[in-house]
Amino acid sequence: DDLERLADEVERNGTVVAFTGAGISAPSGVPTFRGEGGVWERFDEGQFTYGRFRRDPAGFWEDRLELHEAMFGDGYEPNVAHDALATLGAAGYVDAIITQNTDGLHERALPANETNADEGWQNESGTDRDDETTLLELHGNAHRAVCTACGRRIDAEEAFDRVADGELPPTCDCGGTYKPDVVLFGEQLSGATLQRARTLARESDIFLAIGSSLVVEPAASLPRAASSTGATLGIVNLESTPCDDAAAVVRREDVTTALPRLQTLVLE
Ligand code: OAD
Repeated sequence: DDLERLADEVERNGTVVAFTGAGISAPSGVPTFRGEGGVWERFDEGQFTYGRFRRDPAGFWEDRLELHEAMFGDGYEPNVAHDALATLGAAGYVDAIITQNTDGLHERALPANETNADEGWQNESGTDRDDETTLLELHGNAHRAVCTACGRRIDAEEAFDRVADGELPPTCDCGGTYKPDVVLFGEQLSGATLQRARTLARESDIFLAIGSSLVVEPAASLPRAASSTGATLGIVNLESTPCDDAAAVVRREDVTTALPRLQTLVLE
């Protein structure tokens, strides 16, 4: 079938780039932003914009603590789809993972002997892991906070602990204000990160869009950028996407069945 065709191409070992969205983490129990059970049913998304952060950092952080607990308070683990990409990456078949998610699950799904969660991973430019898999977190990582003055990054838990203790907003030793290390609504994606993603897309031989509605930028244009420069585009998503017409293979399938099967087809 068409997944076998895709696996054959992956096996031929060109440059494979996986591009992921909220759909890959939904089976891990991470609530989506929109749709049924989405956090914006319970929270006002207007309170979490970059403009609000600039105007009222204290109020922003107070609300952000509540949102963080609602989204991540129960804890969650990578699922078999994250694991399949990590395993294919470790075997040399996936060269880069570009994600729109801020949950850090791709990093945690890495093979245990290759994790370097404390220092090695950078959100700005992406970091090579043993020249095998590049992880590019397009929208940052909700488990970190960054000083808006000096750029120092700390564990988000530390920032949230300080917020819970009444430090509003949490402040860096340099005097700057910490911000969650994510791209907020109304905030520009870093140009370097975007450039890196575009280059990866154009240089890919196989571009797999996984669990993303592909409706917001840059997600909407990366798959087309890849296919227009000759890449084979594969899409795995429960719903149809605006890029389906450009894809060689479209799987209207759950990520937790499609990706383990792809892994098996490639590695066995
Ligand atoms: P969306 O919520 O727009 O799309 C998620 C897609 O995953 C939907 O089309 C679902 O059908 C699909 N899906 C859900 N569960 C799935 C499963 N188990 N298997 C396969 N597919 C599944 O999420 P994104 O495309 O990631 O930006 O959204 C893009 C960006 O919009 C987010 O990163 C966020 C938001 O504004 C920022 O926060 C800056």
